[in-house]
Amino acid sequence: MGSAGLKLSPVFKTFAVLLFTALIVTPRPVTAQKLHTSSRWIVDEGGNRVKLACINWLSNLQPILAEGLHRRPVDALSASIKSMGFNCVRFTWPLYLATNESLSTRTVRQTFQELGLHDAIAGIESNNPSIVDLPTIEAYKAVLTSLRNNNVMVILDNHISTPGMCCIYDDGNSFFGDRYLDPVQWMEGLRFMATLATGFENVVGMSLRNELRGPRQNVDLWYKYMQQGAETVHAANPNVLVILSGLDYDTNLSFLQNRQVNVTFTKKVVFELHWYAVSSSNSLSEWVNGNLNEVCARVSSKVEQTSIFLRRQGFPLFLSEFGVDQTGTDENDARFFTCLLRTTAMLDLDFALWGLLGSYYLRDGIIDRDESYGILNHNWTGVRNSTFLQRISAIQPPFRGPGLKETGQHNIIFHPLTGMCVIRESPTSPLKLGSCKQSVNWIYTPRKNLMLKKKKMTRRYLQTDGPGKAVTIGLNLTTWERISASRMHLATNVGGKRACLDVEGQLELVARDCKCLSGDASCDPSSQWFILLSSTRLWRNLRSN
Ligand SMILES: *[C@@H]1O[C@H](CO)[C@@H](O)[C@H](O)[C@H]1NC(C)=O
Ligand SMILES: *[C@@H]1O[C@H](CO)[C@@H](O)[C@H](O)[C@H]1NC(C)=O
Ligand SMILES: *[C@@H]1O[C@H](CO)[C@@H](O)[C@H](O)[C@H]1NC(C)=O
Ligand SMILES: *[C@@H]1O[C@H](CO)[C@@H](O)[C@H](O)[C@H]1NC(C)=O
Ligand SMILES: *[C@@H]1O[C@H](CO)[C@@H](O)[C@H](O)[C@H]1NC(C)=O
Ligand SMILES: *[C@@H]1O[C@H](CO)[C@@H](O)[C@H](O)[C@H]1NC(C)=O
Repeated sequence: MGSAGLKLSPVFKTFAVLLFTALIVTPRPVTAQKLHTSSRWIVDEGGNRVKLACINWLSNLQPILAEGLHRRPVDALSASIKSMGFNCVRFTWPLYLATNESLSTRTVRQTFQELGLHDAIAGIESNNPSIVDLPTIEAYKAVLTSLRNNNVMVILDNHISTPGMCCIYDDGNSFFGDRYLDPVQWMEGLRFMATLATGFENVVGMSLRNELRGPRQNVDLWYKYMQQGAETVHAANPNVLVILSGLDYDTNLSFLQNRQVNVTFTKKVVFELHWYAVSSSNSLSEWVNGNLNEVCARVSSKVEQTSIFLRRQGFPLFLSEFGVDQTGTDENDARFFTCLLRTTAMLDLDFALWGLLGSYYLRDGIIDRDESYGILNHNWTGVRNSTFLQRISAIQPPFRGPGLKETGQHNIIFHPLTGMCVIRESPTSPLKLGSCKQSVNWIYTPRKNLMLKKKKMTRRYLQTDGPGKAVTIGLNLTTWERISASRMHLATNVGGKRACLDVEGQLELVARDCKCLSGDASCDPSSQWFILLSSTRLWRNLRSN
């Protein structure tokens, strides 16, 4: 950690305390429903937006059982998904679960015994006694049932063919025609799972195939088989969204710029993308090697060209994997994540975080392997890092979209580093960061003033006396420019001095000298990153008049 990290630490300390007092915004309760698309949005039968705020839950490793069932009862895990604010699970399956009967009819106990996972068997016996002697496919359905009972939507994701960890570049599971990815068998598997899903109205979508890649990936074959796969799923189950992933580990859908998919049905096609610190990068340390404003702008523009452009073609985009090492010790990950939160919030994307676990029964030959990217701790008993969950909770509810026009359009000022928004506890309190649910509503005027949206005669604005001074609401027509390559610094000129919006101490807003706008790679500017989120929601200021 550089000096920037040290300067920020008081922010994080305050934050941990705030977590327990702040209201966590939960998505609107979702009952089972048929979803479809309406331009770039996913909507319900009434045409109202449903934002997928999912978490990845794996059931594709060698044991072919939803991870964690040796630690907690399945219903407790489903309930904890809900209580953490997620409304949906991207639930993975290996192709052979659907196509190899000798494998799917073996009991959980038999599979675990063969793998030598004796402690795990004991754990499943005590936490999930009704599952341990079920055939593997029935155990998969038991988890779907539990998610249904807890009102959690599900995306079924064909993650790999052979049970195991995904995704090595060329491991026989990489692309159509590979040793373990026979297109005919794959479509059989899709048909089987789509049919199975007709019994679970909480299954709202199917991801056709995870992270296509490898030396044999090919655009023409992509169209051929993805279209056939989509038709297969839709024919077996017309209710589910059909979710298509791209090439290069699901980072590249750029070929769709010139040629759209051609399927016989409409309003059901969604595209997905994955975005990790290294996935769109040229190096393993891209985020610490350059100035963060510049790296964030460069990578975001690349992701725009390879996948995010699709929302302009009228398709929803599902960010179906992203995540970071939650110990916070990987600075490259930490910097990337602040930039990612910016894009995800700004575009109000549907998403699935990686991941729920905890730990793996068995991964890479290691029993009980930890997952530092998991939202739950090693024992699956609690949240691994509550600061991290607080940041995610900011993007769980939708900001706008069909059916969410509770009020006219305005902006809320979002701070990706903390996942908080600018709030004011009372009309006389200082401006600070807090739960986005209590956000102050602003209008960013053509003259670049940030005007308070209130039905008062007198207009009031975000203003400051300059570097080192507080930022307040008043009568001065301060102009705020969005500067730097990332356009996330909000800067103003006071008496010839430039100042940027920043936070200090108890998360109060302050104006400071603008921090490493360009060039400097060692300094992290993200405490000064703010975005003006467009919203049509009523973000009631619960504590003020
Ligand atoms: C089906 O699964 C069994 C048990 O793991 C395995 O021995 C067999 O090779 C598999 N069959 C095919 C066709 O993959
Ligand atoms: C994306 O895939 C297309 C088609 O294979 C390829 O031409 C293009 O170079 C790729 N783009 C990136 C950024 O990798
Ligand atoms: C789409 O597919 C149909 C049926 O295969 C075909 O008749 C039609 O020409 C295709 N359209 C385009 C634009 O490729
Ligand atoms: C949680 O993440 C933050 C950075 O986001 C880090 O500073 C902190 O140490 C982490 N806490 C734990 C318990 O890993
Ligand atoms: C996990 O459980 C084990 C055994 O019950 C215990 O020793 C350990 O302290 C727990 N770890 C955490 C992080 O809760
Ligand atoms: C508002 O404007 C007045 C007059 O220019 C100036 O004296 C004062 O410092 C400004 N106050 C703030 C908080 O910007």
